[in-house]
Amino acid sequence: MSERRTTRAVIPAAGLGTRFLPATKSQPKEMLPIVDRPAIEYVVEEAHDCGLSDISIISRPEKTSLEGHFAPVPDLVALLTEQGKEDLLAGLRRIDELGSVNFIYQPDPRGLGDAIAHAEHHVGENPFAVLLADDLMVDGGTLLTRMLDVHQERQATVLALIEVPDDQISAYGSVAAELVEPGLMQVHHIVEKPSPADAPSNLAVIGRYVFTPGIFAAIGETELGVGGELQITDAIGTLINSEPVFGVVFSHGRFDVGQKLDFLRATVEIALDRGDLGPEFAQLLVETLKRRGLV
Ligand code: G1P
Repeated sequence: MSERRTTRAVIPAAGLGTRFLPATKSQPKEMLPIVDRPAIEYVVEEAHDCGLSDISIISRPEKTSLEGHFAPVPDLVALLTEQGKEDLLAGLRRIDELGSVNFIYQPDPRGLGDAIAHAEHHVGENPFAVLLADDLMVDGGTLLTRMLDVHQERQATVLALIEVPDDQISAYGSVAAELVEPGLMQVHHIVEKPSPADAPSNLAVIGRYVFTPGIFAAIGETELGVGGELQITDAIGTLINSEPVFGVVFSHGRFDVGQKLDFLRATVEIALDRGDLGPEFAQLLVETLKRRGLV
């Protein structure tokens, strides 16, 4: 008998965002806009579009603008309605349609494993997805939907895997895995941020996970790892000893918006995809590159 599909999503967002200083001096990095929507909104929308209606953001009390972004603004809606600003209202409605977002505090960020552990009382004995806000997926929900399908079929934890050049593997969790069907691997071993020489492969874990509730016990058994933090990768390593763990391999649609260049790439690609901006923006890009003698 197949169990009901999970509706729970957890989005860790309690980090300090130091890589984007000074922009993040007084503003959460998840609120930095990509075109005209904060990064966190794309991630919440992806979860929602994949059928995850119970969404929790792990945050810190001082990141008030994150909560503000998902709260209703009746006065502003009334004003824009009075002014007939339909296009602006549509942007606000789109946020409302994402449903209510639950906030859980992790006052003292001690790593991704610790952040996810904070969701245990909310998630309980249920499977759940984790979406890292630095990994922006522009793929119409294809990757996460496939991961949820695999979870449903195998009742197991599922990771997202992408091949990266050997010299980049030390920025990621890296796995040893065997192919079980096209695009699906069973993961046998996982290491957080290995040196290229120690990496089990160049298959990197990216920020989409579907966990069984067994991950909470595994986190509880895990010691502090790389950077003195409680690493979710190490907890997955513990989980592999008692449960099978799978990985869906994908290749397209990911932007690491925690990196400046990839943040810019996401901005350019998303702006080009926009019906209201794309054609004019494309022209602007071409003209700018020509003027600078770059094309
Ligand atoms: C985290 C995880 C790492 C994973 C990466 C994906 O690292 O710890 O295993 O590969 O996200 O983006 P971070 O980028 O937060 O250092």
